[in-house]
Amino acid sequence: MTPFDSGSTIDEILATIADTSSDVREGLVEDRTVSAETNPSGETQMAADIRADELFEDAVLANDDVGTYASEERADPIDGGDGAYHVAMDPLDGSSNLRSNNAMGTIFGVYTERPPASGRDLVASGFVLYGPITTMIVARDDEVTDYLLEKENPQVLAEDVTLPDDPTVFGFGGDVPNWPEDFLDFAREIEQELKLRYGGAMIADINQLLTYGGIFAYPGLKEKPEGKLRLQFEGNPIAHVFEAAGGASSTGDGSILDTEAESLHQRAPMHVGNAELIERLEAALD
Ligand code: F6P
Repeated sequence: MTPFDSGSTIDEILATIADTSSDVREGLVEDRTVSAETNPSGETQMAADIRADELFEDAVLANDDVGTYASEERADPIDGGDGAYHVAMDPLDGSSNLRSNNAMGTIFGVYTERPPASGRDLVASGFVLYGPITTMIVARDDEVTDYLLEKENPQVLAEDVTLPDDPTVFGFGGDVPNWPEDFLDFAREIEQELKLRYGGAMIADINQLLTYGGIFAYPGLKEKPEGKLRLQFEGNPIAHVFEAAGGASSTGDGSILDTEAESLHQRAPMHVGNAELIERLEAALD
C-alpha cells in the first residue's frame, strides 16, 4: 500500500511522477553534460533536462486520463488523448546546478484546462527535491503533504504542512543592479531582518521556506519587467503550494494564480512566502 493507492486519477498521476523522478535522479549521475540545444526560453539545455523531459512525457501520457503533457523544454504541449487533466512540468528545475553539484528539482502542475491555463485551474501541484534525500511536496484540496521518495514506495513524512509563523530566511534572484528601486528598498529592509540563503535552484530556495519560513523572489527586473520564471511551469504550481500552506504569492500586484494566461512560455515576476512578508512586498512595490 502506498500513499497514492486510492485509485483516483490524481493519485495515479502523482504516483507516476514519484516513480519517474527516481529514474530522473539516477540519470543525473550520467548526464552532467551540456547538450547542443536551447529550450524555448533560449536557455542552454543540459543532457539531463532532455532525458528528464522524455521520461516524464512517456510516463505521464501513458495515463488515459491525461490529455496533454506540456513542458518547459518543449515549444508546444504534446496532446495524448481526451483525458480531462493536463500536466505541465519543469522536468529539471535548476539544472545549471549540476555543474556545481547543488540541489535541483522537478515541478509539476495538474490543470483542468490545456496549458496555457489559469493558476485557478490547478487541481494539484507540487515538486520533487533532489537534495541529500528525495522528497516530494504535493498541494491539493488546500492541503500540503510532504513525501519521502527514497524507499521503494513513497512514504508520508508530514501532513498539513504549513509555513512556520516566525520567518527566518530569504532568497532573491536576479542581479542587484538590475533590481528596480522599489524592490531594492524592500530587499534592504528584509536583509536587516532575515538571513540570506540563495542557491540558484528555485525548488531548493522555496523548499527551505516550508521549513524555516521567509520569502523568495525572482522579481521583475529593470531590463526584463516580466522577470525570469515561467508562469505555467514554475509560478503557478509553486504559488498553489504556498497558498495551500497558509502563505501567499504575488507578482507584485496580486496573487500569481490570478495572472492571465497568455502563452505557454510566458514569464511573470514571482514572490512567495509568509503572508505578512508578501503583504509588505506588495505595499513596497505600489
Ligand atoms: O528557472 C531556472 C532557474 O534555475 C530557477 O530554478 C532559479 O530560481 C533561477 O533560474 C536562477 O536564476 P539566477 O541564476 O539568475 O539566480
